[in-house]
Amino acid sequence: MNRNIACIGAGYIGGPTMAVIAQKNPDRKVIVTDISQACIDAWNSDALPIYEPGLKEVITACRGKNLFFTTDVAAAIRECDIIFVGVNTPTKTFGAGAGYASNLQYWEAAARTISQEANGDKIVVEKSTLPVRTADAMAAVLHTHPEHTFTVLSNPEFLAEGTAINDLLNPDRVLIGGPQDKRGKAAIRALVEVYAAWVPRKRILTTNVWSSEMSKLAANAMLAQRISSMNAFSALCEATGADISEVATVLGMDHRIGKYFLNAGPGFGGSCFKKDVLNLVYLCRSYGLKACADYWEQVIIMNDAQQHRIVARTVKTLFNTLAGKRIALFGFAFKANTGDTRETPALTIANLLAEEHADLVVTDPKALTNAAKDLAHLEHVTLVDDPYQAAEGADAILLMTEWECYRTLDWKRIYAGMRQPAMLFDTRNLLNYGELKKIGFKVLAVGKTV
Ligand code: NAD
Ligand code: UGA
Repeated sequence: MNRNIACIGAGYIGGPTMAVIAQKNPDRKVIVTDISQACIDAWNSDALPIYEPGLKEVITACRGKNLFFTTDVAAAIRECDIIFVGVNTPTKTFGAGAGYASNLQYWEAAARTISQEANGDKIVVEKSTLPVRTADAMAAVLHTHPEHTFTVLSNPEFLAEGTAINDLLNPDRVLIGGPQDKRGKAAIRALVEVYAAWVPRKRILTTNVWSSEMSKLAANAMLAQRISSMNAFSALCEATGADISEVATVLGMDHRIGKYFLNAGPGFGGSCFKKDVLNLVYLCRSYGLKACADYWEQVIIMNDAQQHRIVARTVKTLFNTLAGKRIALFGFAFKANTGDTRETPALTIANLLAEEHADLVVTDPKALTNAAKDLAHLEHVTLVDDPYQAAEGADAILLMTEWECYRTLDWKRIYAGMRQPAMLFDTRNLLNYGELKKIGFKVLAVGKTV
């Protein structure tokens, strides 16, 4: 076995994960591959394909030394004995399980390529988030070329976008699942060694493959469920005069619950929570566990309801009509510190506002390129870099993403440029409402009567 590492899939997961592995294992060659030439060209340029704080520094330190980006998947497979698979596994949009199950076509294509191109025994590591028992299917596909031995490990990734580099450098835990026979245990040891270069041993957990696959879905579902619970409480707070931030503080001080991930907002976005909870619903249904499926599906239903509720409140506050009104969305990314707009609540809200015939202006420090693609189907949308310009002549601002730069805007200047009475809906509970009200804004916030 050699020590080289390949990764198939150079996206949000493959790129940053391999960059940190390369940085911490300078004696290993790390080759990141993708079928998209544009993606690989971007990784090899100064304009990286994704924005992530700290990523550029790691890439600059390792690229061309022991970290390489290429479209030559076949050569990478031959050169490396540890092969990560980090391709996308989006929700299926067609056929059986459409709208719930994971689409495994990219993953299967990657497995077939490994099987075809392998020149010796390989450790194949599932980095993508996959349905439980996928490793079985992966082993079956790989063994279509039985002259080599493939050992399939599960090593799900827990990083969050926007904090990817820090999460990779200081993970709560690294999870490695593998077969419990002699060969499986040796493969687990080989992968443990990669992470042990910087992660304390006690944070590296090893389990059987199914527990590892299951734990990733369970972790995301638990986090998504917290947000849906808080958003459900936020609706009740608005109806009763309670304040969701105060409720969150109280809940968070119970150490059994903890203070993180209790922020109500426009609902969770991103490429994973919705997809993974839907996949869990699908898995439960496939095993005949209807009550479990319905339970997890409610997390998604609550998330969608939150976005509808935000638009309904906006319509009501703007005198029950949005037709021809100019509404500025501050932030389009699904969260701060990323340009990623996959499943962003801002898109659902933009679509709902467009249905009311509003004119939309969208601004975001990093996500306007993605926003342009996401909003191409809408007629009355303008994209603007400068938030002051975005607010010019607007009837309302919806603050959608908790970008730090919005905290420090000159809100007096923004108010002066708007059409009166000007509304500001802070869906992230980011701003100082006393000051905004003094300026003259009609202020709305999630889970608060301001
Ligand atoms: P992504 O779409 O950003 O990247 C996937 C990449 O794989 C794309 O660039 C695509 O071109 C490439 N690809 C697809 N098929 C290929 C093939 N056959 N050969 C070579 N390249 C191929 O997706 P992502 O956000 O990086 O997510 C990847 C997986 O990681 C998913 O299963 C996701 O659930 C999981 N995950 C993502 C995150 C995250 O923060 N984005 C976190 C944890 C887990
Ligand atoms: C999430 C998980 O946090 C990661 O552990 C996991 O690896 C990843 O999914 C994945 O599997 O892809 P990510 O989606 O990048 O990471 O971002 P989060 O920080 O979890 O935020 C997800 C969404 O929840 C965002 O829209 C965010 O604004 C929202 N959120 C988060 C809230 O509304 N309230 C909170 O308290 C926290």
